[in-house]
Amino acid sequence: MQGLHMVGVRHAYGKTQVLNDISLTVPAGELVCLLGPSGCGKTTLLRIAAGMERLQTGSVTIDEVIVAAPNVQLPPEERQIGFMFQDYALFPHLTVFENVAFGLFRQDRQTARARALEVLEQVGMTQHAEKHPHLLSGGQQQRVALARALAPKPRLVLLDEPFAGLDTTMRARVRQQTLSVLKQTSVATLMVTHDPREAMYMADRIKVMGENGQILQSGRPQDIYYNPAEEYVARLFGPMNMIEGVAQDGSLASSFGPLAVGDAGNGQAVRVLIRSEGLILSHGGEQPGGTPVDVLSAHLLGDSSLVGFRVREGINSGAEFQARIPGAFDLTGRGQTWAHVDPAQVFPYPQKQ
Ligand SMILES: Nc1ncnc2c1ncn2[C@@H]1O[C@H](COP(=O)(O)OP(=O)(O)O)[C@@H](O)[C@H]1O
Ligand SMILES: [Mg+2]
Repeated sequence: MQGLHMVGVRHAYGKTQVLNDISLTVPAGELVCLLGPSGCGKTTLLRIAAGMERLQTGSVTIDEVIVAAPNVQLPPEERQIGFMFQDYALFPHLTVFENVAFGLFRQDRQTARARALEVLEQVGMTQHAEKHPHLLSGGQQQRVALARALAPKPRLVLLDEPFAGLDTTMRARVRQQTLSVLKQTSVATLMVTHDPREAMYMADRIKVMGENGQILQSGRPQDIYYNPAEEYVARLFGPMNMIEGVAQDGSLASSFGPLAVGDAGNGQAVRVLIRSEGLILSHGGEQPGGTPVDVLSAHLLGDSSLVGFRVREGINSGAEFQARIPGAFDLTGRGQTWAHVDPAQVFPYPQKQ
């Protein structure tokens, strides 16, 4: 199969084990995001794929060619990889055109020139071809770095936190442009990031890595968000509401009504997490199935508000929760507030001893 295969990769720096049996596949045309906290070994994994770090255990195959295995170690320049770092690492003394043409030294001048101009066009940087990098904005530098990575028509593109240096507005735009260029190229791309929303936006598939250097869950963005395999994965997307108790007949009793707890057995201690967007608020007279609550606070974040409330009755009375609602929330003149739970945003886990 075309694309990248890493099988059973382990890596240690001295006595410190960083990567713990990582296996992954990036098919041609797909973008796979490795999502994990700082220091979990993401850059190390990319460097092993690129051949910049010597493989210790496992194997790396690119387009059916074994590039690293216990007795094989192809140098980076023979792996046909495009690499883009967080700081872009453009050559400051070369023009944009020369930066992009740099990796095309094996081709004759005319072919190299035509190819460099072609990718510059693709990333929309043709009019800046003769400028030096310091005259460009962060977003433009990023596009040049992408063009340079793609110019030699690599079999695999590796992106290491490629948008981390950009401000929020710029980042959204550059992300979208990068994704569109990569999709046109139909190259296999492995990108690493510590930003869950970035991974959700960019990825065909996400691999969530934990601090122990293992992959905790792999799946499409919607699998990771709606079926988080463990508490750590569920909590990636922000603070969670939590209700703990003992499972009975497949559910946990709560002030919001019974919450399904999957296959937790009777008498098992469970922890149910509810996303803030999974608590829905309404106002006015009695609401069927609604739980009466007292609103404590409301903070407008821009496109949504975080509303703190306290449950008035039942098993969780007095407990505080946070709901995220679209738009602004008016604290006055709404009458009684009621809370409902969206079952798709409820995630039960066994309580750790
Ligand atoms: N060359 C090195 N020598 C020793 N330790 C290293 C080296 N490179 C990285 N590390 C350590 O390995 C761990 C993983 O690093 P890294 O792969 O850069 O993680 P990430 O990219 O996920 O932040 C960190 O604890 C880091 O300090
Ligand atoms: Mg890193």
